Amino acid sequence: MPTIRELTQDDLGALFALPRRIYANDPSWVAPIGLLERKRIAAFMDKGRLKLFAAERDGAVVGTISALRDEGYVAHKGEPVAWFGYFECIEDEAVAAALFERVATQAREWGCTLVRGPRNLTRFESMGLTVEGHATLPPFMQSHHAAWYAALVEGQGFAKHHDVLAYETPVLDALGNQRELPEPLKSKAAACDIPGLVVRPTSRLRMARDLRDAHTVLNEAFATVPDISPMPLGQWMALGRVYLTVADPRMLQIAHVDGRPVAFAGTFPELNEAIGAMRGDLLPLGWLRSTLAMSTIHTASFKLIGVVPEYRGTGLQAKLVDHTIRGVKEAGYTRLEASVVDERNAPMRAIVEGAGMTVYRRYRVYQAGV
Ligand SMILES: CC(C)(COP(=O)(O)OP(=O)(O)OC[C@H]1O[C@@H](n2cnc3c(N)ncnc32)[C@H](O)[C@@H]1OP(=O)(O)O)[C@@H](O)C(=O)NCCC(=O)NCCS
Repeated sequence: MPTIRELTQDDLGALFALPRRIYANDPSWVAPIGLLERKRIAAFMDKGRLKLFAAERDGAVVGTISALRDEGYVAHKGEPVAWFGYFECIEDEAVAAALFERVATQAREWGCTLVRGPRNLTRFESMGLTVEGHATLPPFMQSHHAAWYAALVEGQGFAKHHDVLAYETPVLDALGNQRELPEPLKSKAAACDIPGLVVRPTSRLRMARDLRDAHTVLNEAFATVPDISPMPLGQWMALGRVYLTVADPRMLQIAHVDGRPVAFAGTFPELNEAIGAMRGDLLPLGWLRSTLAMSTIHTASFKLIGVVPEYRGTGLQAKLVDHTIRGVKEAGYTRLEASVVDERNAPMRAIVEGAGMTVYRRYRVYQAGV
């Protein structure tokens, strides 16, 4: 039987060393940026929200797992859930059993009767276990997993809770021309007829005004989405400035009606195509490699779309998708990806599937009673 050891902040080496061994020859693995990840883990540990465990056998680390509690989620949803994450394991059921037993004990200590996961830290990153698409690069902020993990997790009594999906589509056809929008999106975009409507890309010269307009739309549009609270303007502007420094302004498209901002859509360079080249080294060789790789990013990642409620159902979202794909092409990208979409989010799935996108990676969120 393996032994289980709780890891401290000064002893996180095992967490990073094991995946390096497991994925040594796997080109789909993107190493975490160690220093940044350590800082973020420390913040969760300081608040008593995160416990990390390593399984060892004959002095060697053979598995890792975390237990996480998210009191905000428990209070909001009323579900007594603890999350497992940072799951890495050699292909050995006894090791997986020991890891999950330790997490179950922790969950019960926290008063939780359900364990769900994997989820590493926040709800917006590393959600779910790869169950399809192992040969592809994971999208930014999502993880890669060994092919045998799903069987190990299911072998411990976990069943599917829901899937989240990563979609892709080529931007160009075989001749290098921009691909036509598929029907019915094309007709929907063409039929969109709103008097006074102007859809245009953002501009570095008007950066502050464009970001403020996008923020207005963001808070109006997302007010109808459960679980989302308004984002303060300062926080949005800070994020937006970084975004517009890294991204081509054509990747963010804004729609106005008679000068009033009513919709926007944003895509982002797929950073994993550059981070993958770093192999987890922050300095200095890693940055050099990733800077060189930045110019080789060929994927734009579709992250945000919002239409204020009064213009929904008008075809404006289709028009915006059309402009966004055109902007992405003009900025030199050849592939568009969208991630991650909760399979239960029917409207969002209708949009990405309507744009001709197909699933290239499927992540499964599992759950078990404890
Ligand atoms: C998502 C959003 C941009 C869509 O714009 P919209 O004008 O409402 O979109 P549409 O009315 O054209 O509907 C889009 C598709 O979803 C479908 N749809 C809408 N509600 C649905 C539901 N409850 N179940 C199933 N399908 C639904 C529509 O039938 C349509 O499909 P189609 O193109 O095959 O006809 C808009 O609703 C919005 O801003 N929502 C809040 C922000 C958000 O959730 N953004 C997405 C995450 S980034």
